[in-house]
This record gives sequence, structure tokens and C-alpha cells, in this order.
Amino acid sequence: MKILVVGGAGYIGSHMVKKLALTGHEVVTLDNLSRGYEDAVKYGEFVHGNLGDKNLLNTLFSKHRFDAVMHFAAFIEVGESVTEPGMYYHNNVCNTQVLLDAMVSHDIEHFVFSSTAAIFGEPQYTPIDEAHPKNPINPYGRSKLMVEQMLEDYDRAYGLKSTCLRYFNAAGADPEGELGERHNPESHLIPLILQAASGRREAISIFGRDYPTDDGTCVRDYVHINDLCDAHSLALEKMQKSGDSARYNLGNGKGFSVQQVIDAVKRIADNEFKVIHAERRAGDPAVLVADSALAKQALGWTPRFEQLETIIETAWQWEITFFSR
Ligand code: UFG
Repeated sequence: MKILVVGGAGYIGSHMVKKLALTGHEVVTLDNLSRGYEDAVKYGEFVHGNLGDKNLLNTLFSKHRFDAVMHFAAFIEVGESVTEPGMYYHNNVCNTQVLLDAMVSHDIEHFVFSSTAAIFGEPQYTPIDEAHPKNPINPYGRSKLMVEQMLEDYDRAYGLKSTCLRYFNAAGADPEGELGERHNPESHLIPLILQAASGRREAISIFGRDYPTDDGTCVRDYVHINDLCDAHSLALEKMQKSGDSARYNLGNGKGFSVQQVIDAVKRIADNEFKVIHAERRAGDPAVLVADSALAKQALGWTPRFEQLETIIETAWQWEITFFSR
């Protein structure tokens, strides 16, 4: 197939581009490099541009006959979305709508969308399945839910088929060492701990030790980036065969606390680093764990990186090779 990957220069998008290319697909990446890196696009054609640029999309869609579009081009920082909501609604919602309209006018029928556990808001129960109420508590989560809703309407009105994949905590790196996580500034737990372990930062702060969990720190469901990419490929195949839109929650179904992640990094890196006990971060639910039974059953998705240690090991290899170059 010929697939357009929007946001293919970012963390998850770049791993997806690699997987698609290595499984025989023709890939074009569209990315404005606002958060991604051109050198992360190791396969296929790279186009520098914005997903909200109608003229560029029309040119691209006239030049290539795409079978599907995958969208990884959203802003993802919860805190930033609270202070800069306009930026989030503009890019994550308005620009995505421009892309969808261009797809409709060029008869591109299949769309795979990176959604998030943040659409659920404060969990009413865990693990979180697809039926869980959707009450996002920040502009980031709301922007993703708006696109999910827009996609339902575009399916009804224009027949645009979509699969929304709600990631829990994407983690890890390409096991072959070619790609990894490079957010700037970094705000995610695992890369920050790895920076402390490699000496690139002084310490790691634990945001809150008084949550109602076993050790008092927040529990999250870490899912390896390659497992997420597998789910995208399976979802696209399934959508093309069935002709139906779908939504799936993607996680390992196992929760690990912030303290457990720090302990695991200490074992893997085999060194000590400073841990600071800090205040809670606003908007963090105590526990976020996915129920991915539907993805497993409907897509035949089987996460290959189930152990937290294995996930962290891939990210640690990236930390000590890429950042020491
Ligand atoms: N944390 C720390 N110290 C840090 C950074 C994070 O204690 O320096 C804690 C957070 O408070 C949280 C946990 O580590 O309890 C994980 O935090 P991350 O920032 O790595 O991830 P989040 O769970 O906040 O968010 C991630 C994605 C979002 C997505 C969300 C959905 O970044 O895009 O998962 O579950 F919406």
C-alpha cells in the first residue's frame, strides 16, 4: 500500500514509518518539524509541511494515490495544553479537519488516528475499556476527543473510515537502536529517569507520594512503541477488510508505579541517581491502566514487550548510544 504518515518525524510516527517500509509499503512522511526531526525519517519520502496546508495537501494527494493516512502530528503536552489551549485546538483539531477534508475530496477512505487515554479523564474504574465514559479534564484530551467525534460524523456523512487508537503510556525505543524518544523539552517519566541515570540531568522528581496506590506514587500502563506500531498495521488491515470504523484502547493491562519504574531503571542502568520527592502535578490521575481485550480479540494484537524491564532496556540503549554520540 501507499501510506501517508503525518507526523512521521516524531517519536511514534518515525517508528511507524520504519515498520511500514520494512513490511513492504510505500511511505511518504509529512511533518512540519515543529516537534520532530528530519533525521528520524529513515525510510521513504519526506515532505516538509503542515497538515493544515490545504494547497500542499491537494498537491500531495494529486501526485500520490494514497490508500490510507496515519496521523501522529498532534501536540501532546498536557500542561502546555492548559496554558496554550489555542495552539492545541488549532493544530490538533482545526488542522486535522483540513487534512480530513482534503482526504474526502481526493477519495482517500482510510484514516488511522493516534488518540489517547487522556480522552477518558479521571478514571471511574480500572482497567479502562472502550465503554468507559469520556470526560477529558484538559484541552489536550478534549482536542483528541473532538477529533474522534468529528471522525464519527465524517464516516456517517462521507464514508471516511477511521480507527482511533487510544494509547496509554507509549514507551521504549526501536530495539535495533535506529530510533528513540527525543522530546524537547522532555516531560515523560521514563526518558527523564534515563537522563538522570546517564548523568544528563541531576535528579528525577517524583510528583506526589500520597496517592491511593500501594507505594503512594502514580500507576501507569507502559506500552512499547513497536507494539503500538503493530496495532496500527493490524488496525489498518482490519479496517480495509471489514469496511468499518473502530476504536481501541492500547496498553499492556499492567500498571507500574513511578517508584517501580525508578527501581527498574536503577537495576538496568546499574547505577544510583538522586530522587527528589516533589508535589503532585496538577491533573494526574492516581491509576491509568488499559483494558485492551477488544484490540486483542478483534485485531489479534499481541503485545511482544510485556515486561517493563524489556521496554526500559530498549529506551536505555537509545539513551546511552544516541545521546553520547
Ligand atoms: N512523573 C514524575 N516525575 C516526572 C515526570 C512524570 O513523577 O518527572 C509521573 C507523573 O506524575 C505521572 C507518571 O510519572 O504520574 C507518568 O507521567 P508522564 O508524563 O510520563 O505520562 P502521563 O501519564 O502524564 O501522560 C501520558 C502521555 C499523554 C497521555 C497520557 C495518557 O504523555 O500524552 O499518558 O495516559 F495523554
